Amino acid sequence: VAARRVGKKKVDSKSKPAGTSAVSAVLSGKTERLSSLRDRHLSKAAKLIFPVFIDSAAGSRATDSDGKEYLDLTGGIGVNTGGHLHPSVVAAMRAQLEKHAHVASLMALNEPYLLVLERLASIAPAGMGPRDSVKGVLMNSGAEAVENAVKFARAFTKKSAVLAFQGSFHGRTLLTLALTGKTHPLKTGFGPYPPEVYHAPYAYCYRDGCAQGEGCVPEHLAKVREVLRASANEKNLAAILVEPIIGEGGFIVPPPGFLKGLREICDELGAVLIADEIQSGLGRTGRWWAIGHEKVAPDLVCAAKALGGGLPLSAVFGKAEIADAPQPGGVGSTFGGNPAACAAALAHLEVIERFMGLAPGLESSFRKSMKELQARAPIVGDVRGRGAMLAIELVKDQKSKEPAAQEATKVQQACLAAGVMVLTAGAAGNVVRLLPALTIPEKEWKTGLDTLAFAVEDASSARPA
Ligand SMILES: Cc1ncc(COP(=O)(O)O)c(C=O)c1O
Repeated sequence: VAARRVGKKKVDSKSKPAGTSAVSAVLSGKTERLSSLRDRHLSKAAKLIFPVFIDSAAGSRATDSDGKEYLDLTGGIGVNTGGHLHPSVVAAMRAQLEKHAHVASLMALNEPYLLVLERLASIAPAGMGPRDSVKGVLMNSGAEAVENAVKFARAFTKKSAVLAFQGSFHGRTLLTLALTGKTHPLKTGFGPYPPEVYHAPYAYCYRDGCAQGEGCVPEHLAKVREVLRASANEKNLAAILVEPIIGEGGFIVPPPGFLKGLREICDELGAVLIADEIQSGLGRTGRWWAIGHEKVAPDLVCAAKALGGGLPLSAVFGKAEIADAPQPGGVGSTFGGNPAACAAALAHLEVIERFMGLAPGLESSFRKSMKELQARAPIVGDVRGRGAMLAIELVKDQKSKEPAAQEATKVQQACLAAGVMVLTAGAAGNVVRLLPALTIPEKEWKTGLDTLAFAVEDASSARPA
């Protein structure tokens, strides 16, 4: 297929945004073989977002098994904040692999592990106490970081209840699924879940119909207190677990003052405030931590995704007295803090630090482009996000705000056909979200935004008025 049509514009393959023609009528032998392997051996429960097989990736681009190139505006779901295979990250991984790949850190520690903990302590949110009293452990996945944060909080407070939020996502292990507030299909059919987990409404100003300002904060916090009072025996509260910006649940930025209010509730009830910064942290929003925009100090932070620069690595760290609370041997992991992943992390954090200042520019060009789009495409209900964590919420009608989930999927598919990868999100799947690399060249970012805008206009005009 030599030409593709996105929105009202016809674009031939010479001016395509992301390399080669994105729609191929004939699959290569390799793609056919991989499709057949997938159908034979991959569990159907592992639903795939895109029907393509990635062969290679560099910077903001990924190439599939047909040789088609995509502009990746997902950053590998928030992992490749410094772009795919940044040369300094690759060099650091290689150098470590020349030394050793694994001698279980549980058994004998390695230098990169300790340097990652030291680096995380040096960038810990202000107000957590002296940097040299910040402690933690390294794990492999985000879910493990959250699980261990809850273990720390329970061991420290000697209490058990955990308050999380509706619409949140914290992982796919049974405890983190229990904590997750986004239900279908994530939680369906896997219960029973561990007890003593409660959910309060998040401050979702767009859906709650309040202007995003401090004025509505007391109302949002009153709902949180009501859940604590009515269902969660507040005296037994070990922790509040919060995404400072909700990720999978639709890039919901709470109004200023909401996170501070949660801090105050924790202080009153002797509970631990855990910031799940797995998606929002590590420079994604233009600061090391999304909670840093509000100058609120959590007690524990969970980090993962971008930490390992593409290799699996996660961390939970925070106040020493909390991290030291469990009995020795109470936490650990065979692979946690893998030295190659730690070496990659040290290099990736350097790259992120160098490019973090570009996040506000990505946000302002996104807002400008999407606000203009909103004027033309009535399905754009809300434009939101912070730094390089950006989204539009699609609705069938601006007044009723009925979620337009099918349209969001259509937009995602049209973008893919045009060679651009974007993700959906939200409890109803009606949010289109972008997590571009901070290193994305301006021209590619503009191409990505234009492609998204065409696809949204197309989906908008396909809807009956
Ligand atoms: C906020 C948040 N917490 C936890 C997780 C779980 O991380 P993982 O998939 O590495 O277990 C995710 C993953 O998307 C996330 O976005």
